[in-house]
Amino acid sequence: MNRILSSKWTKVVLFLLGLAPFGGLVWLAYKQDLTANPIEYITHYTGDWCLRFLMFTLAITPLRMLTNWPAWTKLRRMLGLYAFFYGSLHLLVYFGLDRQFDLSGLWEDIAKRLYITVGMTGWLLMVPLAITSTAGWVRRMGFKRWQKLHKLIYVTAVAGVVHYWWLVKSDIRLPLMYAVILTVLLGWRIAAKIKAKAKAGHAKAPSLA
Ligand code: HEM
Repeated sequence: MNRILSSKWTKVVLFLLGLAPFGGLVWLAYKQDLTANPIEYITHYTGDWCLRFLMFTLAITPLRMLTNWPAWTKLRRMLGLYAFFYGSLHLLVYFGLDRQFDLSGLWEDIAKRLYITVGMTGWLLMVPLAITSTAGWVRRMGFKRWQKLHKLIYVTAVAGVVHYWWLVKSDIRLPLMYAVILTVLLGWRIAAKIKAKAKAGHAKAPSLA
């Protein structure tokens, strides 16, 4: 399985799978089937896919550790970039189609509507992650510093869930589901860290034998 995950074809398949929601959207637009409120439909559609890809990206580390297949890591960059792609489309549709590229209107929204403030923060934090996602940037920054910067994805994911939670009016089932998934994914990391620290502590403790 690790070999399949490492294959370049897996990346090609993942690339096409990641593009499929965008293709679906283009197809619906072509058929003029974007409901009575296309702007709202596209905003929701792209927001949903941004959040899904953030969760897929965060699932990679637990999957790698649970299965012991290091090759999962090779898929993480593409999943993260797809989160950024759908997040950017989401912002572009909102700013371009909903707000008609009115910068002062967008700024007013960011200042006045808390869910937009949080969403914008989440998107802005993804920008340095997307820029520094290449192997060249890992080399330039050094792996430790690069890894530290990329922890920002946790803040983005929390911001994404809070943004969703705050914008829904009554039915909180879906944002709640994402909050539970995110808690499991982040909680799992914390538990793994505590376990690794305890193990290291045991190894350092002087033997009584
Ligand atoms: C990490 C970044 C972001 C994520 C993960 C995200 C995610 C989402 C999700 C999941 C929804 C609801 C979709 C649904 O109801 O099916 C949504 C809606 C929305 N988002 Fe975002 N979003 C992000 C950033 C932004 C930004 C930067 C803006 C604008 C500046 C924005 C504006 C909106 C608006 C206007 C809605 C629709 C609100 C409504 O219908 O009442 N989002 N977003």
